[in-house]
Amino acid sequence: MSEAVDPSTTAAWAELDRLAGSYAPDLRGQLADADFVAQRTLTAADLRVDLSKNLAGAEVEAALLALADEVSVVARRDAMFAGQHINVTEDRAVLHTALRLPASASLTVDGQDVVADVHEVLDRAYAFAERVRSGEWTGVTGRRIETVVNIGIGGSDLGPVMAYEALKPYRQDGLTCRFISNIDPTDAGQKLAGLDPETTLFIVSSKTFGTLETLTNARLCKAWLLDNLPSGTDPDAAVARHFVAVSTALDKVADFGIDTDNAFGFWDWVGGRYSMDSAIGLSLVIAVGKDHFADMLAGFHAMDEHFRTAPAEANVPLRMGLLNVWYTNFLGAHTHAVLPYAQLLHRFPAYLQQLTMESNGKGVRWDGETVGYDTGEVFWGEPGTNGQHAFYQLIHQGTRLVPADFIAFARPAYALTDGDSDVHELFLANFFAQTKALAFGKTADEVRAEGVDEELVSARTFPGNRPTTSIMAPALTPSVLGQLIALYEHITFVQGAVWGIDSFDQWGVELGKQLAQELRPAVSGDAAVAAEQDASTQSLIRYYQEHRG
Ligand code: F6P
Repeated sequence: MSEAVDPSTTAAWAELDRLAGSYAPDLRGQLADADFVAQRTLTAADLRVDLSKNLAGAEVEAALLALADEVSVVARRDAMFAGQHINVTEDRAVLHTALRLPASASLTVDGQDVVADVHEVLDRAYAFAERVRSGEWTGVTGRRIETVVNIGIGGSDLGPVMAYEALKPYRQDGLTCRFISNIDPTDAGQKLAGLDPETTLFIVSSKTFGTLETLTNARLCKAWLLDNLPSGTDPDAAVARHFVAVSTALDKVADFGIDTDNAFGFWDWVGGRYSMDSAIGLSLVIAVGKDHFADMLAGFHAMDEHFRTAPAEANVPLRMGLLNVWYTNFLGAHTHAVLPYAQLLHRFPAYLQQLTMESNGKGVRWDGETVGYDTGEVFWGEPGTNGQHAFYQLIHQGTRLVPADFIAFARPAYALTDGDSDVHELFLANFFAQTKALAFGKTADEVRAEGVDEELVSARTFPGNRPTTSIMAPALTPSVLGQLIALYEHITFVQGAVWGIDSFDQWGVELGKQLAQELRPAVSGDAAVAAEQDASTQSLIRYYQEHRG
């Protein structure tokens, strides 16, 4: 594995610093040059990615590629694909890319035939899903399963939810999924409401099978099931027919009372936030079927192959990751918006928040040194056009730089007219208009030419030069969804590699979990534990006790 290089000591970093010092954005100039645009319109699998509206010309781009060279991004990429232990703090390989290798591929890592293992579990998951979909798998009273409830949190929830929403047109009628994640009992209370236990199947999804929220919700759902099935139902038989699990910890699955014949494993070399294409996607397999899930995996793989083999200039994840470094470390951006013009992608920004921020929200390099530069932006977003009527004002005229990715599809998921015109065309016109408005803005003279009163001219002027990347594809198919997710996985990887951080651990979530366990007795009235807390925490707990009713 490559050594940790402090990127801020490289010649390319110094060059980028120099370029940033005198950088004068000129998106109007860039976009007047058809060759400039054509050279920055790249293809990755089925995605067409237009980088021309970014605040970067040839000099900046060359310096960014030089930076990638100096910190050996390509060597680190190759180390990841080969299964080297690039997750150094956990001494693990990082092999989510192996989850979508075709069965004909071969990869042996740490003595394990990874491809054979992946396909063995996939085939079992596909077979199980088909039994549920066909009605062959029934609940304990012999009734067909109508609702699948995935119990999981973080990577064991966000990916399946996002994809379940995104692939709504591909779902099987008569079979719905619900997702319980939050330990707030409201979540389980609402999701269980109206369900018939006889036709409900629970999937307990947890990589570690040790996550407080998931185990608590699993126990809650087990109690609900046993309380609500017809009296006299054998509890062991009920759990065996209504509970399955997905985990790397099959011993803990057995301890919970779930038959390991109905458990689907994965491996410690799959990070939670990179696991939706493992058996963690079981709810999705049941919803959309094995062929569509396999198409999604093929889409992931197509993007993996692009990232692994495309030359640097044409490599979309590399170029997008490097642009994010430019904005973060040289132009002062703190956030990055992802704006899908696709209602079906309404959970995509939330999914990306875990992927990007749990991966790159780190302050030390993989050699243990504290970084002396910013890392991980705040990713956020909402679908257009809703966002246009909420937060776009700040992107257009605010004082902060917010690079934004716009995502749209040529063909609509639902082709509808308003009587006169194709509504999807109107929708896409908004997509094109927004990226144009952000780039070009409107000068004071242009505002004056519209006859606006002089005292209102400055308020109605748009500065422009607001950077965007436009990602388009023919349609939101399972394959295209896989490509999009893999694109962002690899963008995240590139940024982490430049910053020299371990994008695959998440130690930062541990402290809060530990303190919650320590505090718990105080919440339930243990005065001694309460007295150990700081004044603010004591007062918050007291408020709860006084108002809990
Ligand atoms: O919040 C930390 C985390 O470990 C995530 O990385 C992970 O996706 C989530 O908790 C759930 O973990 P598990 O799948 O082990 O229940």
